[in-house]
Amino acid sequence: MISYSDKNSGDKTPARILVVEDEAIVSLDIQGRVKALGYQIAGVATSGEQAIQIVAEKSPDLILMDIMLEGSMDGIDTATVINKVYDIPIIYLTAYADNDTLKRAKITEPFGYIIKPFEDRELSLTIEMALYKHHAESTLNENRRWLKTTFDSIDDAVITTDHHGRIKSMNKSACALMGNGIDDLFGRYFHETVNIFENATAEAVSLSSGNDSIIDDAILKSQQGTIPVSINISAIEDKEDVVGKVVVLRDISELKKSEEALRESLSQLRRTFEETVVSLTAMSEKRDPYTSGHQQRVAELACRIATKMELSSEEINSIRIAGVLHDVGKISIPAEILSKPTRLTDLEMNLMKTHSEAGYEILKGISFPWPVAQIVLQHHERMDGKGYPNGLSGEKILREARIIAVADVVEAMSSHRPYRAALGLPKAMAEIARGRGTSYDAEVVDACTQLIEEEDFSFET
Ligand SMILES: [Fe+2]
Repeated sequence: MISYSDKNSGDKTPARILVVEDEAIVSLDIQGRVKALGYQIAGVATSGEQAIQIVAEKSPDLILMDIMLEGSMDGIDTATVINKVYDIPIIYLTAYADNDTLKRAKITEPFGYIIKPFEDRELSLTIEMALYKHHAESTLNENRRWLKTTFDSIDDAVITTDHHGRIKSMNKSACALMGNGIDDLFGRYFHETVNIFENATAEAVSLSSGNDSIIDDAILKSQQGTIPVSINISAIEDKEDVVGKVVVLRDISELKKSEEALRESLSQLRRTFEETVVSLTAMSEKRDPYTSGHQQRVAELACRIATKMELSSEEINSIRIAGVLHDVGKISIPAEILSKPTRLTDLEMNLMKTHSEAGYEILKGISFPWPVAQIVLQHHERMDGKGYPNGLSGEKILREARIIAVADVVEAMSSHRPYRAALGLPKAMAEIARGRGTSYDAEVVDACTQLIEEEDFSFET
C-alpha cells in the first residue's frame, strides 16, 4: 500500500511511523499490522520519554500514541511535549477514555483516535486521513507564510476588509502609515477608523463607492499626521458576491515634493528664459535708442492681432518672443547708420537689410520651443515675394512672420524716426490697406484694422 504522503511527495518511501505502546504484545500486533499495510516502522517506544527521544533522532512521519502509558508521562503529556517542538501528526490509541481524558486529548489537537480493538481497515483509513490532513495543513501553513511575507514586504499600505467594511488585515506598511497595529484595528469599521478624504472635493473616501476605484490624490489623517496618498480599492469576489475589499494606500509625499520642486524649477527656468529674452532685446535697443521700445510694441500689437485671429496660445507665445527679438540683428549694423538723421543710401539700406539674417544667426543656436529664429529671418518677407532676404511669398512665409510684418510696419510708421517725424497711425493704416493681399497677408491686415479702428487699440509702451 502506498500512503498519501508517498503519492504526493513523489518518492516511493512509505510513511515512517513511530509506535508508542507500553504493552509489548499489543505493540507487536500494531507493528505487524502497520507493516502489513505498507508503512515503515520508524521506531518503537514504551514510554513518553523514550518516544520523545526517538522523535528527536528519527523524525517519524506519524506517531501512533497509546494514551494510557506507564510512567510519569501518559500519551497526552508526551504529545503535548512533542507538539511544542515538532510538527508531526499524532493518532491516539485508546482502549477506553473518560470525558476528562478526551478533553485533555482534544487540547493537543490530534489527527485522529483509534479505539482498541480496531480493524486493519480502520487503522489504514485513520493513518491515511491523518497524513492527508497534515499534508494539507502544512501546505496551507506554507502558503500563509508566503502570503504574509509577500504582504508585509509590499511598500504600499494594504488593508483588507470583510463585506461589512470591517478591517480584517493590515500589512506592516499599513500599520506604519496608520500608527496602529492590526490588534488595535481588527474588526473595526474602515470608514470609522481610516480618516481619508479626496483632496479635490474634501469628501470622505467610502468603500461603498463602486467595487473598484482609483483615487490619485487623497489625504490620510492618521496618528502619523496628514499624509498625501493615492488609493486603489478592489473588490474580493466569491462567485457573484463581494465578500470584502482590498484597499491599497500609497504614500505620495515624496512624489508631491518632487512635483513641487519640478514646478519651482520650471518656473525658475521660465523666469530665466524671460529675463534672457529681455536682456537680448535691451542689448539690441541700446545701440539704437531711437527705436527703443519698438520691438516691445510690435510684440504687443502682433499678439493682439494673433489673438484676434484666434491663434493658439502656443503660437501667440511664439509671436510674443519673436516680436520682442525681431530686430535683434541690428546689433550688427553700425551705430551711425542706425541713427543717421537722413535717408539711407542704397548701400546703407542694403547693409541695414542684413539685420534679418544677422538676427537669425544670433537666435538659431537657442533651443526655443518655437521657430523664433525663422520668424525673425522672415519678418521682412512680403506676400508678393518682393521682401527680403529670400523673396519668399504667400504661405511659404510663416504665419507668425506675416503677423509681425504688419505689426512692424504699423508701429514703425506711427513712431518717430531719426530721419522723420512720426507719420501717425492713420498713415500706417493706409499703408497696410494699400498693401493688403500684395505686400501683406489680407487676413492679418483685416484683423489689425478691426483692432485699431473698431476696438481703439493703442500702444501701451
Ligand atoms: Fe526689422
